[in-house]
Amino acid sequence: MDSRNIRLAVIPGDGIGIEVVTEGLKVLEAVGTKVETTTYDLGAKRYHETGETLPDAVLDELRGYDAILLGAVGDPSVPPGILERDLLLKLRFQLDHYVNLRPVKLFPGVETPLGKARPEDVDMIVVREGTEGPYAGAGGAMRRGTPYEIATQESFNTAYGVERVVRYAFDKALARPRKKLTLVHKTNVLTYAGDLWARTFDRVSLEYPDVQTDYCHVDAASMFFVTQPERFDVIVTDNLFGDILTDIGAAIAGGIGLAASGNVNPDRTAPSMFEPVHGSAPDIAGQGKADPTATILSVAMLLDHLGLAEESARVEQAVADDLVERQTGWTGRTTHEIGDDITARVAG
Ligand code: NAI
Ligand code: MG
Repeated sequence: MDSRNIRLAVIPGDGIGIEVVTEGLKVLEAVGTKVETTTYDLGAKRYHETGETLPDAVLDELRGYDAILLGAVGDPSVPPGILERDLLLKLRFQLDHYVNLRPVKLFPGVETPLGKARPEDVDMIVVREGTEGPYAGAGGAMRRGTPYEIATQESFNTAYGVERVVRYAFDKALARPRKKLTLVHKTNVLTYAGDLWARTFDRVSLEYPDVQTDYCHVDAASMFFVTQPERFDVIVTDNLFGDILTDIGAAIAGGIGLAASGNVNPDRTAPSMFEPVHGSAPDIAGQGKADPTATILSVAMLLDHLGLAEESARVEQAVADDLVERQTGWTGRTTHEIGDDITARVAG
C-alpha cells in the first residue's frame, strides 16, 4: 500500500453503526491522509431484503482493501446468531483476524465505577485470540428439545494458533514501557487447553527475557480488573475469556461508548477490521444520542495498524482533550456535535 493513500472498506451496518461511522470517517478525513472509501451495505437490512449475510463475492472484494471500518450489525428482527455467525465471525475467521485487540485505558476526566482508580492504574491491552477456542463453531446437539437433550460445544486450541497469538502479545508487551505480559486462563480446571497455553507461553517467554511474565486464572483476573487493575499491562487469553474480560475492561474504563477494538491479521495476508465494541443499540438508534468516541478511537487503532503512528496519536489526543472537557458539564451533545468537536481538534 502507498502509505499515504488508504483504501478503506466501510461497513456501517445497522442502527447507531451508521451514525458513529459517519463521525469516524469525518475524523479520518481530517487527519490529512488520502482515503478512498467504499461502502458495503451488510447487516440486518440487507439480510431482510435479500437473505444475504456475507456473499462470497463481497468477501473476495473485501480482501483487496488496506483495512475495514465496521460500525455495528444486528437488529431484534433478525434471529439471534445469524449475523454474528454468518457475518461477523465469518469475516474474522476468513480474514484470519487471529488477534482481537482491545485497549482498556482510562482517560483523564472519565468517570469509572472503580472510584479511586487513576488513569495510570487502568492502562492495559487485552490480546484476545480471535479464530479458535469455543467460538470455532464445533459441537452438536442430540435429542434436542427433549429432557434427554445433550449439547456439546468444543473448544479448539491448536499449537499453531496459540503460539502465533502468544508471540504477538510478547511483541506488544516488549514495545510498551512496562513490558509486562500476563497469561489469563483456567489451567487448573481446563487442563488440556490450559496446558497447551501455559507450555507455549513459557517456551516463547525464553525468547523475550526483557518481558516480565505473570499468570492469572480468569476468575481471579476478573476480580483484579476491579480491585487492582494496575496489575496488568498486556494480557493474552483465549477467545471466550477475552470476550468476557474485555467487557469488564470496557466498564472500568468509561463504558461502552468509549471501548474500541481491532480484529487484526498481523501477518497482513488480509485486511484488519476495526470497530467499536458496542452493538447497534436499537434503543437509541436514529436519535443522535450515540457516542461516536469508541468508533473514533477505533479509527486511531486503524491508523496505527497502517503505520501512521503520528496520525493515530493525534486522533487519540483529540479524544483525550475532548474527554477532559466533558467533565466540566459539557454534556448533551449529539453524535454529530461530538464528531465535529473532535474533528476540529484533529484538524487543529
Ligand atoms: P449494544 O452495545 O448495542 O447496546 C447496549 C446498551 O449500550 C444499550 O442501552 C445502548 O443504548 C448502549 N450503547 C451502546 N453503544 C452506545 C454508544 N455508542 N453511545 C451510547 N450508548 C450506547 O448491545 P445490545 O443491546 O446487546 O445489542 C444490540 C444489537 O447489536 C444486537 O442485535 C446485537 O446482536 C448487536 N451487536 C453487534 C455487535 C457488533 O456488530 N460487533 C456487538 C454487540 C452487539
Ligand atoms: Mg462481547
